[in-house]
Amino acid sequence: MEKQKVTAFAPATVANVSCGFDILGFAVEDLGDKVAVTLSDKPGVRVTKIEGDKGKLPYEAEKNTCSVAIMAMMKELDFKGGLEIELFKGLPLGSGMGSSAASAVAALMATNTLLGNPFEKKDLLPFAMESERIACGAAHADNVSPALLGGFVLIREYHPLDVIPLHVPRGLYCTLVHPHLVLNTFDSRSVLRRNVSLQDATTQSGNIAGLVAGLFQEDMALISRSLNDVIAEPSRSVLIPGYDEVKEGIKPAGALGCGISGSGPTIFILSPSEEIAWEVSRLAQNVFDKMQLPIDLYVSAINTRGAYIIEEEI
Ligand code: HSE
Repeated sequence: MEKQKVTAFAPATVANVSCGFDILGFAVEDLGDKVAVTLSDKPGVRVTKIEGDKGKLPYEAEKNTCSVAIMAMMKELDFKGGLEIELFKGLPLGSGMGSSAASAVAALMATNTLLGNPFEKKDLLPFAMESERIACGAAHADNVSPALLGGFVLIREYHPLDVIPLHVPRGLYCTLVHPHLVLNTFDSRSVLRRNVSLQDATTQSGNIAGLVAGLFQEDMALISRSLNDVIAEPSRSVLIPGYDEVKEGIKPAGALGCGISGSGPTIFILSPSEEIAWEVSRLAQNVFDKMQLPIDLYVSAINTRGAYIIEEEI
């Protein structure tokens, strides 16, 4: 019998990962968004329910990242039927944890299953990127790729898209420090320098290559040396109070390094063990307590599963 309703989950993600502006990302465990898609007799796509967004997300199909992604897929399939979308946000908006990407990816996973899997998982990426274009003006893939595929992902090239899954070293843990501020990606992209010096390009390339090599070799010291961003971080970190203090404190505590998660304000910290990931979370808590700025903290292994189907209803 044909499925009538499918619900999917897609996780939070850390994009950029310091030196990999727009080209590196990884997925986080447990945190994420759920989307249910139901077949309807009425042609077209409608967003019928949004929960957990404090009323901030649009219901208009042309503006909502779930429906935009689904419409791009329907266009490719020339599918003229009707679909209704229910979105359950688990991720805060404007946090830098890939909130719009998680919604779009969960919506695509659910729709693909509902329609009998016309696409392989990785082929859903271009549709998800269309939703990023709506969300922030740039069709970047460093959140949607790990949200869909899980693990650590490199976007080697955008035209044509070439997405490379990377190795995830054993014992690698991530701490996410989410200060209660909202930074939208459009604004955070607008503060970036348009031109990069030869010196900075060389430094950044070396660090990206070092990070990728460090992941494959499970070389924590090399990963640590490579977590250095000379392109985006200098312009963006000034928007995040406490960033420099957290950065200064975590390495003596045994962490590998930190960076801005996506376009911020969330700070991600990579550690070589779960114990150190918790230790640096306490350190970050102290920094923000002193500023009386509330934060949320998450400690997670790297999620290697990515998006998945939760439920199929007949
Ligand atoms: N690479 C994107 C940016 C990620 O830094 O603007 C946004 O989450």
